Amino acid sequence: MIQINNISKSYIKGKKSVDSLSLEIKDGEIFGFLGPNGAGKTTTIRMMTGILNIDEGDILIDGKSIKNEPLEAKKRFGFVPDSPDMFLRLKGIEYLMFMADIYDVDISKRKEKIETLTKKFDIYKELNNQIQSYSHGMRQKIVICGALLAEPKNWILDEPMTGLDPKSSYDLKEMMREHSKSGKCVFFSTHVLEVAEKICDRVGIINKGKLVFVGTFEEMKQKFKEQASLEKLFLEITEE
Ligand SMILES: Nc1ncnc2c1ncn2[C@@H]1O[C@H](COP(=O)(O)OP(=O)(O)O)[C@@H](O)[C@H]1O
Ligand SMILES: [Mg+2]
Repeated sequence: MIQINNISKSYIKGKKSVDSLSLEIKDGEIFGFLGPNGAGKTTTIRMMTGILNIDEGDILIDGKSIKNEPLEAKKRFGFVPDSPDMFLRLKGIEYLMFMADIYDVDISKRKEKIETLTKKFDIYKELNNQIQSYSHGMRQKIVICGALLAEPKNWILDEPMTGLDPKSSYDLKEMMREHSKSGKCVFFSTHVLEVAEKICDRVGIINKGKLVFVGTFEEMKQKFKEQASLEKLFLEITEE
């Protein structure tokens, strides 16, 4: 479970990029965080994951505060950032072993887990090459494998389908479904409505730092019909 309690963040004094945002993502739920570019999705996720300090408010991961118990909170989620361009000089296998070390994955099970995950995403044969030789999609896949290796209970994914080929995108969605069905929590951001429509139990829409809607996709469609301003936002999101 992820509880976001009234958080705010300003990069520039007087201009809130995230403004008094509260959300609760329950266990067994896939939650889609929607909004146009620049809405504040990544800023929110960076606060959830402890990369950015929270100006006001707090975030609890399974009851552990990212502010006051950051290590305990961080043990409880796996994170896929919006850009997979990191540790480029490491070979794929070195990166995954590094992640396994950090997250304390049982040594006797590592090899098998890495094999299963990377075969699923079709990058097993690339593991002995440096990440810098990978395409964007392959980098995205290795980062996803690294995040899932320790079988975290809560998944936090920032635009995870970006750059994935259709099959990997489908596989990831299936994994998100399986994960939530087993009573665990998936939070992901997207600016692509079709993705959210297909898999989310609930969605939240953020615009200009403010949460403007939370509910099911059906409820969202109802609301868009009724309100012209939301219709405009809907168009902005679906553009591209
Ligand atoms: N490092 C930064 N410094 C200053 N402003 C930033 C920084 N990162 C993001 N912003 C601003 O904060 C707002 C929200 O950005 P972001 O959270 O990246 O949105 P999203 O992920 O929804 O596209 C935007 O107006 C963006 O320009
Ligand atoms: Mg973003």
